Amino acid sequence: MSSSIQSASTSLKAPDSSQLQLNSQGQLRHFLTTEGLSKALLTDIMDVTESFSSVADKAIKKVPLLRGKTIVNLFFENSTRTRTTFDLAAKRLSADVINLNIATSAATKGESILDTIRNLEAMQADMFVIRHAASGAAHFIASHVAPHVSVINAGDGQHAHPTQAMLDMFTIRQVKKDFSQLKVAIIGDILHSRVARSQIHALKTLGAKEIRVIAPNTLLPSTPSALGVSAYTDLVEGINDVDVVIMLRLQRERMSGALLPSESEYFNCFGLTEKKLAHAKTDVIVMHPGPINRGIEMDAAVADGPHSVILQQVTNGIATRMAIMALTLGQHPSSKAL
Ligand code: NCD
Repeated sequence: MSSSIQSASTSLKAPDSSQLQLNSQGQLRHFLTTEGLSKALLTDIMDVTESFSSVADKAIKKVPLLRGKTIVNLFFENSTRTRTTFDLAAKRLSADVINLNIATSAATKGESILDTIRNLEAMQADMFVIRHAASGAAHFIASHVAPHVSVINAGDGQHAHPTQAMLDMFTIRQVKKDFSQLKVAIIGDILHSRVARSQIHALKTLGAKEIRVIAPNTLLPSTPSALGVSAYTDLVEGINDVDVVIMLRLQRERMSGALLPSESEYFNCFGLTEKKLAHAKTDVIVMHPGPINRGIEMDAAVADGPHSVILQQVTNGIATRMAIMALTLGQHPSSKAL
């Protein structure tokens, strides 16, 4: 583990994936973390995302890039947006996609995750999209698959959620164009958030001017400065003059012990309202990876208000995942007619 935010999270043993995910030519083979990827590579992902965005406007929303490829979505944790947009992304690339229902799979009969993978490889799967409650799960699978098989991390424990971070970077770039002048505030349960971790790595690599994290002390990483972010426990102070506000859900399923007095007190101090948002820049954008808990982390008026780009993020999730799937399978669309 290379960053303090990771070591701050309890019993987090996620390995360093930065080398495993590139092939000998420096191209993406797996997509496991934003940590350690170059600015050029992150920018290329956003450029390819841009080129795939127009597929949604076509009468037939498909390109033939991954025709004949088999993609298996393996979600060991619940998901609405991530799973659906991975499914749609694979279909828009003309791949054959299987959504394995873990609740009805042999995993419930005691089969190990590696045996499940070996069996799916025997059916000629080309890619696994993995969501798992254990940090490091996608890395573990990536280090065991056959040489032609790619693995995409769709969220592993508290560790990383790199495709979410990339759809967030793409959304920020769509609205704000340039990262170098941006002040970004990430608000909420930073400690347990794989989304925050992946966003911070990507924002730093893309050259954001300032990254702030805002949370109660109990939900902050122990040494935020080691991560290159500044920490605030006062929302109004932290949000002052920022260009981008990213809200996070309280990850109750990952909390051990009482880290918060009550949800209403949390909302009073850290819930985003129009009044508090007025301290940010007038053209601030408000983001959230979903699912939103209205009245806990943010007011409905902000979630549905003029600064919100939350549904734009969801739309961008499809083209972003198309880009990452195509690139990890070695299909760069710039060399092909779309
Ligand atoms: C996030 C996740 O699962 O990590 N959601 C998502 O992928 N859209 C954040 C969350 O669950 O709060």
